[in-house]
Amino acid sequence: MLRRLHSEQPESFAFTAENQKWAEAQLTKFPEGRQASAVIPLLWRAQEQEGWVSKPAIEYIADMLGMAYIRVLEVCSFYFMFQMQPTGSVAHVQICGTTSCMICGAEDLIAVCQDKIAPKPFTLSADGKFTWEEVECLGACTNAPMAQIGKDYYEDLTAEGFGQMLDDLAAGKKVVPGPQNGRYAAEPKSGLTSLTEYDSGKTQYNASVQLAVDLGDGVKRIQGDEVPLLTPWIGKDGVVAGRAAAAQPPKAPEAPKPVAKQVEETKKPAPKAKPAAKPAAAEEVAEVAPETLKEARGGLPDDLKLLKGVGPKLEQTLNELGFFHFDQIAAWGEAEVAWVDSRLKFKGRIERDGWIAQAAKLAVGDETDFAKKAKKDGRYEDE
Ligand code: FES
Repeated sequence: MLRRLHSEQPESFAFTAENQKWAEAQLTKFPEGRQASAVIPLLWRAQEQEGWVSKPAIEYIADMLGMAYIRVLEVCSFYFMFQMQPTGSVAHVQICGTTSCMICGAEDLIAVCQDKIAPKPFTLSADGKFTWEEVECLGACTNAPMAQIGKDYYEDLTAEGFGQMLDDLAAGKKVVPGPQNGRYAAEPKSGLTSLTEYDSGKTQYNASVQLAVDLGDGVKRIQGDEVPLLTPWIGKDGVVAGRAAAAQPPKAPEAPKPVAKQVEETKKPAPKAKPAAKPAAAEEVAEVAPETLKEARGGLPDDLKLLKGVGPKLEQTLNELGFFHFDQIAAWGEAEVAWVDSRLKFKGRIERDGWIAQAAKLAVGDETDFAKKAKKDGRYEDE
């Protein structure tokens, strides 16, 4: 199957405020410089929010992670779990069509999809509420035939029961996942023949169904505020656990250093610095607007994408803010960083990726490892 960007794309993508917080918290799980490792969870959250992964979503995530757009597209198109075309506003139904399910009635379920949703997979139903596809074995063969909708499995299905389930979902009703024929889990249809003593004290449904029922609507889009956004490694104050102890009182803002001085400093072999602890909210550095330009000097902007952490979209944002040259960035002090930071999609990336030290090198014609590699790989389309 060809997996490519859909012909129709939305104008833009943005995480909801809560999903944005969640996404930023994911980045703290990985060592400095390895934030690209968060690409799959972020793509997945984008899909949970929108139902599918659009081109703007791919670009948005690439910018967050400092990755080239093509790298994120490669990940997205490789994994079939990512939907690259619009899906139903209520549900995208995945019917298992592998051996056990096929011999137990998967074709009947597919016929229901063709009748109630659309003759062909990945096609929106007339009311836009549903899409469907046939997938490979989902590992619930004992309860064949089955379908996955959202995070939940619907098992031991019949064509009639499945059709009713789609009608209920279309009507906004909640449906209970799990076996639909009275089975508790994957025990023999005639009932347990062993381990019967474990029968007492069980919940109404098996563990995964019980959890789904307790959480509520299984087909709802994830906005980020419906589940506790407790991220164990992030405290209430936003400080990463384990780094809090190393927190130092914030320094007074320093005046911007001249480029030459920064270059000098970057040449000194120094022990690898740990990221500075984030100042408490009340002690945040006051913002000072840096000097900006209306256009690039001589009409020749620097390729800001040679800065690690700056992709095409972010470069465009920087240009729109009035930054076209490495020496402009190299001249930022803490207060200027605070100003720029608050105008980017999420704070902290300037410090995290060390833009100023990189820019200081590039401004005087030196190379950074990243810039060398980016040029060598031909990483950017506009190089
Ligand atoms: S064959 Fe359908 S879940 Fe395994």
